[in-house]
Formats: sequence, C-alpha cells, structure tokens
Amino acid sequence: MRSGKNSPPNLLLRLGANIFLAGALSIPFSVLSAILAYYFLVELLRLPLAVVIGLAPLYYLVAKWCFKLFFLVLARAQLKPVEEGHFEADFGNKNVRNWLINISLVDAVKYFVGNPPLGQTFLRPPLYRFLGAKLGKATSLDDVTDPYLLEMEDGAVAGGRSFIVTHISRNGGLYLKKVKIGRNALVGICSTIMPGVEIGEGAVVAANSLIPMDTKIPPYTLWSGIPAKQVKSLKGEVEDR
Ligand SMILES: CC(C)(COP(=O)(O)OP(=O)(O)OC[C@H]1O[C@@H](n2cnc3c(N)ncnc32)[C@H](O)[C@@H]1OP(=O)(O)O)[C@@H](O)C(=O)NCCC(=O)NCCS
Repeated sequence: MRSGKNSPPNLLLRLGANIFLAGALSIPFSVLSAILAYYFLVELLRLPLAVVIGLAPLYYLVAKWCFKLFFLVLARAQLKPVEEGHFEADFGNKNVRNWLINISLVDAVKYFVGNPPLGQTFLRPPLYRFLGAKLGKATSLDDVTDPYLLEMEDGAVAGGRSFIVTHISRNGGLYLKKVKIGRNALVGICSTIMPGVEIGEGAVVAANSLIPMDTKIPPYTLWSGIPAKQVKSLKGEVEDR
C-alpha cells in the first residue's frame, strides 16, 4: 500500500477504525441496559426472565444510538482546519488532505447519524453547528457539503432540498469558499447555492434556482433562474409592511 506525504490519506482505514471504535464503545451501554433491565424487572419486580430476553430489541436500540452518538463525537474530534482558496489537486498539499479527511467524515456522519438525525428537520441546525457551521438563531437548512464553511445569520432559511455547496472541482483543482446567508434571507426549495455566494439580508432566492459561484446578492432583492439573475428589488415591499 502506498503511503507518505504525497499519497491520498487512507480514508477507508480511517472510516473502518471509526466504525470499529464507535461500535466497541457502544457495546458496554447495551450490556449495561440489559443488566439494569434484569435488575429492575426480575430482581425487583419479580417478572419472568423471558421479559428481559423479550426486550432484546431495546438493547439493540441503545447500542444503535450510542453508536451514532460516539461516531458523531469521534468525527467532530477529527475535523481538521481548512483554508478557503483554489488548490491544485495535490495530496501533498495539507489543505487538500485535510479537506478530503473532512468530507469523508461529514459524509459518514450524514450516513450513520442521519441528515437530519431522527428524521427531524429541527435537528439539522444543532447537528451542523456541532460540525462547525456558524448558524444564528431560528435558522433552518437542508443540506450543506462542508458545514464548517457555512455562515447563516439569525432567521435565515434554506428550504427543503436546497443544496449549499462550499467546494467544487475547478480547473482540475479544488475550490473551497464559504457561503454566507444574511439575516432573514430565504433560499427557496430545491435551489443550489455555489461556493463563495453571499446572500444579503432579507434577500430571496426563488425555488429551483441556481446561484453561481461567488455571486454577491444585495440585501432585499429577489433572484431566480438557472443561473439566477436579479428579478426585482424587495425594498418597496419591506417598506409597505
Ligand atoms: C419567487 C417567489 C418568491 C415569488 O413569489 P411571489 O412574490 O408571490 O410572486 P408570484 O408567485 O406572484 O410570481 C411572480 C413572478 O415570478 C415568477 N416566479 C415565481 N416563482 C418562480 C420561480 N421559482 N422561479 C422563476 N420564476 C418564478 C412567476 O411566474 C411570476 O412571473 P410573472 O410576473 O412574469 O408572471 C416564490 O415563487 C418562491 O419561489 N418562493 C420560495 C418559497 C420557498 O421555497 N420557501 C422555502 C420553504 S420554507
């Protein structure tokens, strides 16, 4: 197997190690829940042992959720700092290596923990905050490639099936740039926001639009289309309210 500074990080090995560690850490908790069930149900309540055995799915659930929690914490602990910019596809570049490790960890969290956890939209902001996103109060979002490159101010909403992309392949290299969404701005459902986009306060991106890389959307404007263009100013509408 190749190894060294210029070879890609061994993501499969890292993933396997994380799965193994999270699994191993979760086993004692399911065993403990079975012991506690035995103590309360058989020793204290004098119920038949069959009841404790019949609760096997419960111990599995405890193990499953412990696994998810440990996996999330392990992934968060391994996230590495990355800088914004355009980088050659060179595995010797620390930024490229760090980003590769991060994207593998974030993708694994989405798979194992769920996007969102428990299938609940309201649990997305805390999950992404934990993974490094800077999210203000009353924010909501659907999917983001690299949470630590996302900033959303208070009241900003990115609707269902919107996709916030903070990395792309560009000229054969890697382009990493933050996406910033201002106070009370709205990104419509099924819209795609590309790296480097800044959406001003109160601006609206119409449903099913695509905001190209590095676009700066002025506050209180409506944008729509693929690629999106400014349709109108919303200033008058705000003043009318
Ligand atoms: C763009 C949008 C804000 C316009 O809403 P509105 O001000 O009520 O305007 P209307 O629905 O009357 O449409 C006004 C014009 O915009 C056009 N339009 C509406 N939605 C559009 C869209 N998604 N893309 C392109 N054009 C759109 C209409 O065809 C109409 O065109 P016209 O003036 O040439 O006839 C709204 O359609 C939208 O996409 N909102 C996003 C909501 C959302 O996804 N929220 C996230 C979930 S919480």
